[in-house]
Amino acid sequence: MKEAVYILGIETSCDETACALVKDGKEILSNIVSSQINIHSKFGGVIPEVASRLHTENISLVVEEALNNSGIECDALTAIAVTYGPGLVGCLHSGLLAAKTLSFLYQKPLLAINHLAGHIYANRFIAELQFPLLALVVSGGHSELVYVPSDYEFTVIGSTNDDAIGEAYDKVARLLGLGYPGGPIIDKLAKTGKAGYQFPQVKMSGEYDFSFSGLKSACWQLLQRLQKEKQQYEIADIAASFQEAVLGQLMMRSKKALANYAVKQFVLAGGVAANSRLRALVLSELASLFPAVEMIVPPLWCCTDNAAMIAAAGYSAWQKGQRSDYYISADPAAIY
Ligand code: KG4
Ligand code: ZN
Repeated sequence: MKEAVYILGIETSCDETACALVKDGKEILSNIVSSQINIHSKFGGVIPEVASRLHTENISLVVEEALNNSGIECDALTAIAVTYGPGLVGCLHSGLLAAKTLSFLYQKPLLAINHLAGHIYANRFIAELQFPLLALVVSGGHSELVYVPSDYEFTVIGSTNDDAIGEAYDKVARLLGLGYPGGPIIDKLAKTGKAGYQFPQVKMSGEYDFSFSGLKSACWQLLQRLQKEKQQYEIADIAASFQEAVLGQLMMRSKKALANYAVKQFVLAGGVAANSRLRALVLSELASLFPAVEMIVPPLWCCTDNAAMIAAAGYSAWQKGQRSDYYISADPAAIY
């Protein structure tokens, strides 16, 4: 019988202190996420220095709870997987330090994992990943189309030329006076609005690239104009129009990529994958245009940051023979 692989995952790249224990890449034995969102929302966004301090305060408790809940002793671990980037440098250091300490203490291999690879592999909890696949990674810090020809091989075919999509959602929510994080608020509000406002089309450098900062400025200009001209308007209509414009861009690029890359699956990943309209568009529009491609939309719990996804990616890294040494450091701009 094959020996079970137990990976402890640690994630601290932004505002969630998280630790999870995953068996054989897909069976979650424990998954602890301590979110700092209530603290950062008072400031309208993540304050990096505050976030790093909170990770340092919480990481030991979170790791202890994850280990206790799993029923697995440290000695039985196969390896320790940790996010080394991309993310906020001070935050990443907290997780790395915890992972290196455990790795050294219990003499377990260390696996340095890319945060975005984690988002892609979160889908492993709901489906058997089939390669080649195409991933649309949409989060607070990134917007990418990634071609994954085989297990744990990544080629970024398109990315944003400016803001990330989640960042655009958060900034537009702020200028509409809606609070933080803006994504879920705009998502909900857009359901009650009409997408009647048109925004200019944006030009991108690469054929699968995105650009969102122009849409954010267009929203601001629209709001200024409506207020100056003392016109009646509904915030929900602006939210719905913005959402249709950003998601329209995602759909256009994804269709082009699906037409040009022969893939078995299309997977949605990252915090913005929680968006209800985006999920519906993938499952209706993309699915009917590309019936031979399996569309995978992750459950809401694994769209936002967690450590189970880092352990799931860690499983593939482990199988591929990847091992990190203690010189590995935080890399805020890590690429796959
Ligand atoms: O992946 P994530 O948890 O953190 C990063 O790695 O960046 O993504 C957080 C982002 C935030 O910008 C948040 O506004 C956005 O995901 N988000 C959403 C929704 N839920 C979270 N954006 C649009 N619609 C949502 N329902
Ligand atoms: Zn993330």
